[in-house]
Amino acid sequence: MLLTRILGVGAATGVALAGYAAAEARAYTVREVALTLLPAGSRPVKVLHLSDLHITPGQQRKRDWVRDLAAWSPDLVVNTGDNLAHRRAVPTALDAMAPLLDLPGVFVFGSNDYFEPGLRNPLAYLAPDRGKRHVDVPQLPWRDLRYGFASAGWLDLTNRRERLRVAGLDLAFTGVDDPHLGYDDLPAVAGPAPDDADVRLGVAHAPYLRVLDQYAATGHELILAGHTHGGQVCLPALGALATNCDLEPARAKGLHRHPADSREGDPGSSWLHVSAGLGTNPYLRFRVACRPEATLLTLLPRG
Ligand SMILES: [Fe+2]
Repeated sequence: MLLTRILGVGAATGVALAGYAAAEARAYTVREVALTLLPAGSRPVKVLHLSDLHITPGQQRKRDWVRDLAAWSPDLVVNTGDNLAHRRAVPTALDAMAPLLDLPGVFVFGSNDYFEPGLRNPLAYLAPDRGKRHVDVPQLPWRDLRYGFASAGWLDLTNRRERLRVAGLDLAFTGVDDPHLGYDDLPAVAGPAPDDADVRLGVAHAPYLRVLDQYAATGHELILAGHTHGGQVCLPALGALATNCDLEPARAKGLHRHPADSREGDPGSSWLHVSAGLGTNPYLRFRVACRPEATLLTLLPRG
């Protein structure tokens, strides 16, 4: 009798937890961050950092929520990849971002732009990364997504450097293809970031340390990345348990320094912003103590 009761309470708790985690995965939020980074006298620049939509054709609420982000009037959109979670999701992704595609933007891709998601053991995220990549799965129509972004005017930062004028400022960008897949071509974007730009930004999908190290060492003041999902399943008091890359869990999301122990102004150091992203693998659509997010980063003038 007692055992039956204990099993009953355990099952009810499990169902309640699963329900909570499924609801949190749909509790989209905008996180606002301010950072003093611009030349004195500049006006503030609002950067919308989008990442890890993992959208499917059926996720209309997520599509509508992303469409409404244009109401924040960002000056620039930075999309750090993992937009897709279904082979027919490109129109949904482009529809979700249609109002944002009218704005200046830059993008890089992640593994979930290139390859279809599969059913994974959720505990695999907590295991050490052994470098194995399941790239023998069907490809997603990433060329269509790239065409959709690029034809709207967003700059493709796949192993490239680009310049963009935003709000009267000259912004220099360095980007790499997805480091989680080993697609990053760091030699192609090596060398000092241009010192005649107003701000230098490094962009990548997965925040692997080799990429962060090169960006920081070559003079980028701000690095933007996604991929971690903020840990996705976090302990309320302790935070993330894993990042699915070699970045330590303490920097799984939010604004930090790189190297972690550096201070602003240290040579070879940078700000690092990691987005917890808006989605999950569609087969594991749950989050705990880590709401899905887009970030509005307001860059402020020095002084
Ligand atoms: Fe992702």
